[in-house]
Amino acid sequence: MRVISGIQPSGDLHLGNYFGAIKQQIELQDKAECFFFIADYHALTTLKDPEALRRYTREVAAAYIALGLDPEKAVLFRQSDLALAPEMAWILGCCTGVGQFQRAHAYKDKVDRGLKPNMGLFSYPLLMAADILLFKATHVPVGQDQIQHLEMTCDIAGGFNAAYGDILIKPQVLLSESPYVPGTDGMKMSKSYNNTIPIFPESPQALKKIVAGIVTDSKDPRKEPLDPDTCNAFAIYKLVAAHKDYAERMAMDYRATPQSKFPGYGHTKKHICQAIEQRFGAANDRYHQLLKSSELDDILHDGSHKAMDVALDTLREVQSAVGLLKGK
Ligand code: ADP
Ligand code: TRP
Repeated sequence: MRVISGIQPSGDLHLGNYFGAIKQQIELQDKAECFFFIADYHALTTLKDPEALRRYTREVAAAYIALGLDPEKAVLFRQSDLALAPEMAWILGCCTGVGQFQRAHAYKDKVDRGLKPNMGLFSYPLLMAADILLFKATHVPVGQDQIQHLEMTCDIAGGFNAAYGDILIKPQVLLSESPYVPGTDGMKMSKSYNNTIPIFPESPQALKKIVAGIVTDSKDPRKEPLDPDTCNAFAIYKLVAAHKDYAERMAMDYRATPQSKFPGYGHTKKHICQAIEQRFGAANDRYHQLLKSSELDDILHDGSHKAMDVALDTLREVQSAVGLLKGK
């Protein structure tokens, strides 16, 4: 089993990234050969601020390590340090039709929200396919929003293999237990929607303010029953609660209103803040330490060498198959 996944350094990491992707990815380091990377080429499709790109790149790397990635077990690297994916994407693109790119949800969604599409955004799934296929990965742990990109990857691999022989491996998607994490507004939590709860908030006060903004209904728990299954604050609490039992107890309190004396959504929000501080407090300290040290740069440097060994083998094989290098 060989695993690969990437995260774009395009904003502050949030609970959706953690519960949808990072948590499962880190667990996989004990079970599979793992490659995780910071998708800085992908971030260029939307981010036009070089200082921010550099800062977010270090932040994603620091977050992975602080949250438990062990560089002895899993390879962590920066996509642009290899610089192989753009060439691979070009070769793959020459075997791929354009129709599916026009129908891609992530692309259409950004265009619908008024983002002027550039060629990078349009061919984003091609670069993602290149990332994955270069490693001959068998499994890709991601959140639900990436399923279509994975289907496109398989299609792209199929197109290449049909033209040049069975060289590339079609990967399987690995969804986490929480592949769809809602944001403060109840829509999918995403950096692009301004509805995120950060994993590493600037301060407890900043976290409190964000959590206070979680949208709930206006039911009065003293007068009518509350429903945990339709409550966005509860959905978020359920994710971050230190034990399943805590969330089950809260769900019972919700359902027993108005008799249970459950004080209301403010109570849920207070517990969300406490649970986040408890769960990520130690990682938060380590994260800030890492950002200040050169340890991070050494880890990325080392990771890029290990990743290069694997990816370059595939690129050479592909170059040779298409006629860019001498045949064997
Ligand atoms: P964003 O949508 O905030 O820009 P990314 O596209 O960088 O996040 O996603 C990085 C990883 O986190 C991907 O595997 C993605 O599927 C996962 N992810 C992002 N948001 C969520 C969410 N709300 N629920 C579950 N997984 C998510
Ligand atoms: N598209 C992914 C996201 O937005 C990031 C990504 C780029 C990726 N290349 C990848 C994920 C390869 C998995 C495998 O989250």
